[in-house]
Amino acid sequence: MEHMPTRRTFISRTVAAVAGLELAGTYSPLTFARSNAAKPAILGGSPVRTEPFPSWPQIAENDEKGWESVLRHKEWCRLGAKPSYATQFEETWKSMTGGKYCLATASGTTALLTSLNALDVGPGDEVLVPPYTFVATINVVFLQHALPVFVDTDRETFQMDANKVEAAISAQTKCILPVHLGGSPANMDKILTVAQNHNLPVLEDACQAHLAEWRNQKVGQIGDLGCFSFQASKNLNCGEGGAILSNHQELMERCKSFHNNGRAVTPSGYRDTDYLINGSNFRITEFQGALLVAQMSRLDAQSRTRTENATYLTKLLSEIPGITPARLYDGCTRNAYHLYMLRYDKDHFGGLPRDRFLKALEAEGIPCDKGYTPLNKQPFIEASLNSRAFRKIYTDQELSRYRERNQCPENDQLCGEAVWFFQTMLLGTKHDMDQIAEAIRKVQENAGELVRS
Ligand SMILES: Cc1ncc(COP(=O)(O)O)c(C=O)c1O
Repeated sequence: MEHMPTRRTFISRTVAAVAGLELAGTYSPLTFARSNAAKPAILGGSPVRTEPFPSWPQIAENDEKGWESVLRHKEWCRLGAKPSYATQFEETWKSMTGGKYCLATASGTTALLTSLNALDVGPGDEVLVPPYTFVATINVVFLQHALPVFVDTDRETFQMDANKVEAAISAQTKCILPVHLGGSPANMDKILTVAQNHNLPVLEDACQAHLAEWRNQKVGQIGDLGCFSFQASKNLNCGEGGAILSNHQELMERCKSFHNNGRAVTPSGYRDTDYLINGSNFRITEFQGALLVAQMSRLDAQSRTRTENATYLTKLLSEIPGITPARLYDGCTRNAYHLYMLRYDKDHFGGLPRDRFLKALEAEGIPCDKGYTPLNKQPFIEASLNSRAFRKIYTDQELSRYRERNQCPENDQLCGEAVWFFQTMLLGTKHDMDQIAEAIRKVQENAGELVRS
């Protein structure tokens, strides 16, 4: 912090330096350099930053060793592998999260699908979901021929608005599926209270929330089941992969059986000849397991670096008018910061549209994104409702009622003002954070010119 000049001191020091040189009659390439630096990069000026942010994933010797050992032992499938990296991952993830049972899966999507099957969510049921999430959260509900009922978003936090959950419950509601979006926990106190009052299970989508905490408890094992993703962009990554956590033995046994083509689960493992339920193959491979075991040795330290940088960035950005970082709920004791999310108000940027703001920021060397579009308005919703299966299951009247309820005005607004930075950007230094803030201030100072250009 001490090394960081405030905007005012920076400008006055620079102006004084330039003025000093000019007064002394010195040749001033600095004057040129300064005006070029002050000009937005998108209009031909010099960018604030030319260095790339840290690359992802980060690899070390243990990744290579684990991977090679699977290769050489020729036990690439977890069934029969001894010792099994998949099992070692599950044991370690349990101890890192405090969950009683853990099952590794092929992906976050298959973890969610397996969990919905374990909870017996099916045709005619409704599942309460947020509209501000990755499409997989919704896809899995439709795949079960159930209806995803959208609960509007709390714009300040980007999370499902827990105050609106109760009003969305109907006689058909089978499950509440909150997402810890961006790695920031949803309001679990309120969601769990409503769930208990209505005797509904809670399935946490923690796919973006590795090691995040609600009141000092790791997310993913606070509700009945919790799902994680280890897809390439995630804070814990093995290319593709997933996991389910639970503290309920029976639910976990159903998950295990379902993800292994409905085989019976025995204390010693899996029996091949008893097929108890209809299932599928969503098993993780030993290669994925080995990478996870290696990668998780760095997860906690990386997570702490992200938190430190994100906390510092929030301080810097909160001083910029028109930039509002996502608020954390009081119960959030740890944010995984898979995404750094903020709201952009163009009125403080001379009316500069968000897309132009993002392009200007990119040109300054700061990667950024506008985030999700309103999922509840995507064409796949209507396509699902109009599909043969849905028209067999639901009456026209039921589908019309569903369409009428499908309104999320707060989320619509959020989708027009959100800005994201990525987790890898938080793995660098404080100086990197300074440059993010500097680039935003630079765009703001030049907003008039950018609007006219
Ligand atoms: C919130 C959320 N849910 C579910 C998923 C699905 O995970 P996967 O890509 O591993 O299938 C993701 C991953 O992108 C996600 O971000």
